[in-house]
Amino acid sequence: MSEKSAAWNTKNLGIPDEFSKFVRHHPSELMLRSLFSATYSENPPQITSATRVLDIGVMYVNNLVPFHDRGARCFGVEINEDMVGIANRCAAQQGIDADIRVGSNRNLGHGDKSFDIVLSINVIHYENDQAGLRAVIEEYHRVLDDEGRLFVVSAGPEHYIRVDAKHLGPNRFEITADDFRRGQVMAYFENEAQLG
Ligand SMILES: C[S@@+](CC[C@H](N)C(=O)[O-])C[C@H]1O[C@@H](n2cnc3c(N)ncnc32)[C@H](O)[C@@H]1O
Repeated sequence: MSEKSAAWNTKNLGIPDEFSKFVRHHPSELMLRSLFSATYSENPPQITSATRVLDIGVMYVNNLVPFHDRGARCFGVEINEDMVGIANRCAAQQGIDADIRVGSNRNLGHGDKSFDIVLSINVIHYENDQAGLRAVIEEYHRVLDDEGRLFVVSAGPEHYIRVDAKHLGPNRFEITADDFRRGQVMAYFENEAQLG
């Protein structure tokens, strides 16, 4: 496992020894508006008990909650066993039945066309460069069914970790913020046009 992947762990995240002291996190408001609200979204997907949703970098399982509430089939991947353990404990704490296993942006560990919705919320930039981003998009596309929806969030130029990052080259930014990711390279999008 790379150092970058191993940095995601119980210690760096400050997970308390007693999991009962863990305060649950809440679903992304942007995701709720985009995927669940006909007021904010032109064409939100129908989410039913037949919907298969994969959350990449599922971490605290907060973003699966509104899918679980609607009876959807919930899946998550995490970058290493420690993170899978955290995610499974979060799922249990919230009463969420989810299949959570080790997987990464570029190797999701699921078959072709397995999902109706794929969530990648602040995860896609854990690549090293533009080639990595391209490979990730292909992998996301591979696991999505024909009418599937992909929801991607990444950090913009004013994000607190990105704002002082060193721009090394196209889609390559070295983190300088005082954070466990300091010194790591992230593959942020250069501008909105790259998302088109
Ligand atoms: C900033 S957190 C976001 C967690 C969650 N998606 C959210 O929005 O609350 C980044 C997550 O991505 C995971 N991660 C790190 N590198 C990854 C990679 N190469 N592929 C997939 N997930 C990765 C981390 O373990 C962590 O759970």
